Amino acid sequence: MMKIGVFDSGVGGFTVVKALMELLPGVPIVYFGDTARAPYGTKSRETLIKFSMQDAEFLMKHGASAIVIACHSAASSAAEALRARIDIPVFEVVTPSVKEACRLTRNRRIGIMGTRATVSSNVYLHAIPQRLPSARIFQQACPLLVPLVEEGWTERRETRMIVKRYLRPLKNSQVDTLVLGCTHYPVIKKVIQEKAGKRIKIVDPSSAVASQVAEHLKIPPGNITGIQPGNRDKRHGDLNAEHRFFVSDLTPHTEDIVANFLGQKIKLEKV
Ligand code: DGL
Repeated sequence: MMKIGVFDSGVGGFTVVKALMELLPGVPIVYFGDTARAPYGTKSRETLIKFSMQDAEFLMKHGASAIVIACHSAASSAAEALRARIDIPVFEVVTPSVKEACRLTRNRRIGIMGTRATVSSNVYLHAIPQRLPSARIFQQACPLLVPLVEEGWTERRETRMIVKRYLRPLKNSQVDTLVLGCTHYPVIKKVIQEKAGKRIKIVDPSSAVASQVAEHLKIPPGNITGIQPGNRDKRHGDLNAEHRFFVSDLTPHTEDIVANFLGQKIKLEKV
């Protein structure tokens, strides 16, 4: 039985879980959020490779037959190392986002928002020109956004101001496409779109990677159980038992934060 293993530095990867559940109802997911060692966005490349390897091994021990690196910081620094060391398919959020950004841009000016680890890995700076040689890439580290989203400040005036401030240099560079290069940013996609303006197209890596996994598995959406995407109640009622969600640290607040990302309350298991 196929099982998708998803890992992230913490709870942000639930944006990817949500996209996978919507696109592939019926496929069991085993999740590992490394909440005890988060954030990953401030860690070095060597540390991210080490942690990512341990996270992937944990998921394989729990039966994962494919790995999805939901965390941009880990994907940026550790995807290649992981692919070299493990022999099941490894998906990550960067590759499908690069593809989507190159498809969407018209003026070939692409903006990247991400953590410091993602920005300093320069993964997008290298990957985008391989697909679109004349593209120009403008990066912006947005370290304040992760804690704001985790606090649930998704609609606050302060968050809007900070998003506006981070977007200013990207708008000045006249990007027409913007990659949300961090697990947490899809939660405030509405605010980001509002501050970016209608002219800028947004790439949401959580849906991009979910589509890539679906394509790889050759599963037409909704086909596994006959449950159609969008029929949430029926789907989650059927599938809750199949999924397992592990975290390395659990506080009374963790399940509430996850509910913000996933839109429903779930049970987390501490390991
Ligand atoms: N999951 C991380 C990412 O997508 C954000 C949170 C962290 O820094 O750990 O880069």
